[in-house]
Amino acid sequence: MQKKFFLIAATTTAASLLLAGCAGGGAGSGGGSNGSPAAPKDTRIGVSLPSQDEERWITDGSAIKEGLEKIGYQVDLQYANNDIPTQQQQVDQMITQGADLLLLAPLDGTALTPQLQAAAGSNIPIISYDRFVRNSADVDVYVTFDNFKVGAQQATSLLIGLGVLNKDGSEGSAKGPFNIELFGGSLDDNNATFVFNGGMSVLQKYIDNGTLVITSGQNKLAQVATENWSQQKAQERMDNLLTASYTGGPALHGVLTPNDSVARGVITSLRNAGYGPTLTSGQKPMPVTTGQDAEVASVKLVNDDVQFSTVFKDTRTLAAQAVSAAEDLLAGKEPQVNDTKSYDNGSKIVPSFLVPIQPIYKDNIKTALIDSGYYTAAEVEAGRLQ
Ligand code: BGC
Repeated sequence: MQKKFFLIAATTTAASLLLAGCAGGGAGSGGGSNGSPAAPKDTRIGVSLPSQDEERWITDGSAIKEGLEKIGYQVDLQYANNDIPTQQQQVDQMITQGADLLLLAPLDGTALTPQLQAAAGSNIPIISYDRFVRNSADVDVYVTFDNFKVGAQQATSLLIGLGVLNKDGSEGSAKGPFNIELFGGSLDDNNATFVFNGGMSVLQKYIDNGTLVITSGQNKLAQVATENWSQQKAQERMDNLLTASYTGGPALHGVLTPNDSVARGVITSLRNAGYGPTLTSGQKPMPVTTGQDAEVASVKLVNDDVQFSTVFKDTRTLAAQAVSAAEDLLAGKEPQVNDTKSYDNGSKIVPSFLVPIQPIYKDNIKTALIDSGYYTAAEVEAGRLQ
């Protein structure tokens, strides 16, 4: 990282750095022609996020933009429409238009190598945001949630929903066997592996002792992955699983679903097949499902006993952490991290900051999501089933 800060005179005071918002001599308009640090208003930050298909990235984008603009930086926020060439092109453009720092959530962790090399050649610091940039020594810091813990929490919630565990983590009274299916995220997204491995770290013991049975036998991430975490693709796979493994046969009791969009796809398929939250109209009991992101559409489903749980990842906190990392990097300081071991991207272990997560069930929607101001009560209530 040293190379990025060679312009910062050792004698420069912290106060003047803060005022100046030093751009570290990036390619952009931020670095003065004589190498002097740029004012925040002349500092450009390129932010590249996966897509606007999912609510969570829209929330992330607004929080990041707002935080950076509050400091006075110029922000170029782009969404890549879940398309790798689009993301590559957008990042190329950010660099040629003079970005002083890049904040990237890559669609494919390995696909931005030429862009990263170009950025590094121009001394542009790089923050890997939520998703991990792989095979590059040019990433300065990774800010994310603890994705392994997200998966472990989803699996724990599945077991709680089935009654195998109690909410306090103690063994519950239900012994099974319960028929379940597994879904994973997108294979090109490093987070999908962490989430899946976290889930299996909890479930394996119950699969081994026969409490849980994966009826389809599909138990590897490569078999259960969902391209682009697509709701539609998840719905299609669930349709196929129901036809192949459950027609006229065993009941399905639970589905480990890795995020809210996948969960909603699975739930649509289940509803079409006659599974429902209430048994009043002869519906089959809705299997236990899980999620992450606490997207408002899924929070309503949790409130209505359709989706069992989700995991709240407070994007306000993640965005604030990224903004503070950007400020630090531009000032030539080491950003705050709390994990220097777990995230090896193939070229280096990237110093990381992992933001805590929180499980969400029907009974803590109010305290965790509404009282904290993440959603208004009206947003959560609008259009609910009941
Ligand atoms: C994120 C999740 C998100 C998923 C799909 C993952 O990388 O960590 O929060 O649901 O991508 O966009």
